[in-house]
Amino acid sequence: MILCVCNAFSDKKAKAHMQEKGGRCSVSEVYSACSGGQSPNCCQCLETLKDMVKTHNGTVVSG
Ligand code: FES
Repeated sequence: MILCVCNAFSDKKAKAHMQEKGGRCSVSEVYSACSGGQSPNCCQCLETLKDMVKTHNGTVVSG
């Protein structure tokens, strides 16, 4: 599924990035990595991305 229309990347790409990174992620860091360093435009995808990052961070054991 396309997550961000403005900078064209999929939810799969965002998930893959978080898994690859392993630890806790921030929305801006994931966005930047997936969009090739672009800034969000319309910001409509950010709510979904926020949820995805939250879910990912919830599975990370900190420490
Ligand atoms: S859909 Fe991601 S910034 Fe517009």
